[in-house]
Amino acid sequence: MSSKKIIKERNLELSKEIDKQRIPQHIAIIMDGNGRWATNKGLPRSFGHNKGVSVLKEIIKASKNLGCRVLTVFAFSTENWTRPSKEVDYLINLFGKVLSKEIDEIHSESIKIKFIGDLSPFPDSLKLILQSAESLTQNNTDFILNVCVNYGGRQEIVKVAKEIALKSLNGEIKASEVNEELFNSELLTKGLKDPELLIRTSGEKRISNFLLWQLAYSEIYITDVLWPDFNEVEFLKAIIDYQSRNRRFGGIESLPNESFEDSYCSY
Ligand code: IPE
Ligand code: IPE
Ligand code: MG
Repeated sequence: MSSKKIIKERNLELSKEIDKQRIPQHIAIIMDGNGRWATNKGLPRSFGHNKGVSVLKEIIKASKNLGCRVLTVFAFSTENWTRPSKEVDYLINLFGKVLSKEIDEIHSESIKIKFIGDLSPFPDSLKLILQSAESLTQNNTDFILNVCVNYGGRQEIVKVAKEIALKSLNGEIKASEVNEELFNSELLTKGLKDPELLIRTSGEKRISNFLLWQLAYSEIYITDVLWPDFNEVEFLKAIIDYQSRNRRFGGIESLPNESFEDSYCSY
């Protein structure tokens, strides 16, 4: 059997295990491992970034088909500027090239694309491409794709705190009115439900300054698979794992209130 056919059959098998009523509506992904993937193959790191783009295309399709509504992917962090300038330049160039090539298909798929992060340090030519992609797709309703570029979770929280402080100074709000709802309304992800699921590829067990506020109660799925090797089969495995979790949010699962009183132990 050809490898394509094997993958298709595995997809079908895994799809049957998925409860279509409990698909996470917002999935966040730290797409990590591009460099190692390329190095393992004796290739320059740029090959890993390139392959990573085609994986992202596959995962957007898979999540949309599954009934997920929002995908938020980490493409470039505020810390990634510390990489060699040649790699940084390559990545910035790649964003522009990929978007120019893919925007028509993104739009025809009714995907609304948003860039989350501080775009100010990017070249004007890239800013123009990103902004026109956002305005072209702003009324699309089938799916939202958030691409985090020059994004940092701490920076986002500081930005919100500054905005709230300014509003308070101007007398627009009172300190007593500062609450989670207000904070949420100032976030770069405003209006979106928090991700139910965070996927990180390449085995690193850290958040790396991604969506610090929004991930407060997300289920975390970490796979050793490097992002360029990730695919629909791996994605379905993550969803199945998510569906096996018991999301308690600090509560207790299916224990009636009375049973605690009936069975407590004396101290
Ligand atoms: C993720 O892959 C892509 C970006 C951070 C832009 P890496 O480039 O971090 O790959 P590794 O972690 O070095 O293998
Ligand atoms: C996180 O990956 C950022 C992106 C995927 C864009 P990194 O490779 O930059 O994270 P660390 O260095 O392993 O924490
Ligand atoms: Mg990395």
